[in-house]
Amino acid sequence: MKTSSITVDPRFRPKRRNWPLIWAYIIECGGSTKSTSATSMAVTAALRGYPSVVYDLDSNMSSTTVLGYDETSLKGKKTAIDLLYGQATLDEVALPARYRIGDGYDDEDFAPIPNLRIVPSSPTMAGADTAIAEDADRNDWFAEILRSYEGDDTVFYLDFPASYGKMPYSVLRMMDEDDSVIPSIKADPKDVKLVKRLRDELERVRDKNRGRRSVPGRPTLNHLLLTGTPTPTYNEAAARRATAAAEAKYGSVLLPYVRYSADAKKLYEDEVPLPILLPNSVPAVDYRKVMTHLGFVDQAA
Ligand SMILES: Nc1ncnc2c1ncn2[C@@H]1O[C@H](COP(=O)(O)OP(=O)(O)O)[C@@H](O)[C@H]1O
Ligand SMILES: [Mg+2]
Repeated sequence: MKTSSITVDPRFRPKRRNWPLIWAYIIECGGSTKSTSATSMAVTAALRGYPSVVYDLDSNMSSTTVLGYDETSLKGKKTAIDLLYGQATLDEVALPARYRIGDGYDDEDFAPIPNLRIVPSSPTMAGADTAIAEDADRNDWFAEILRSYEGDDTVFYLDFPASYGKMPYSVLRMMDEDDSVIPSIKADPKDVKLVKRLRDELERVRDKNRGRRSVPGRPTLNHLLLTGTPTPTYNEAAARRATAAAEAKYGSVLLPYVRYSADAKKLYEDEVPLPILLPNSVPAVDYRKVMTHLGFVDQAA
């Protein structure tokens, strides 16, 4: 049995396990704000003193981009696909998160984000489901990372593509009730409707793993994040209807709202996460409220 010299607050190690909380940003809905929420929450917590890792598992590299890496800066580096193939360890793949302050690729063109690492994605992650289909052992890639983990991170933030394929399954089966499936959806009636499909998918994963002892198999939708909610200047009828529908159906798991801001689009152009690029924008203020609500208070305060 492994012993670790690091003592971490037990609330980040449910059931005395050796790995952090797992927060999965997943819903089969494109452009629903999964990556914006995963990176904004991770950066907010990191700036408050909570070490964590963002896993970018989407081949579109959204989280990778806002946390400081693109295909040019990743040349010759290992990425999430190497973890999936079991060809690298977490510490070999995870890079210090950073954000762009200059135009080039030198160290002075980036500033570090303390307490945060990013497992970068790559376009090859588009083949993740196929890789698992071709070699069933690869279904254990995430389990292997968890079981060999020895660090002091508080949360693993997992940013998924909009699908319920084999790769998302390989992560969801490792989640327990203490972990959180967090669909981040826009205040749009179409997004709210798709939450039911996610609930059904989680039920399927739990059914499939019921009674198994080798994996927890209990992914649970215990938080719903509604973003792009109405403000005095953004008062769309559809957004109001969607907000009311989300409250009626999912009121018990709704996190504080993240309000609309057209400025949120700038993240990907500027390669800077929202809480750092626009710290006073309404969504950045709201993500701070969300993290306080979840118990991630400023440790310096
Ligand atoms: N609070 C917000 N208000 C308005 N637009 C937002 C907000 N948060 C994110 N967006 C925009 O929504 C779009 C999709 O966001 P993204 O996080 O990339 O979604 P996903 O990862 O689910 O595909 C982006 O253009 C982003 O700028
Ligand atoms: Mg995304």
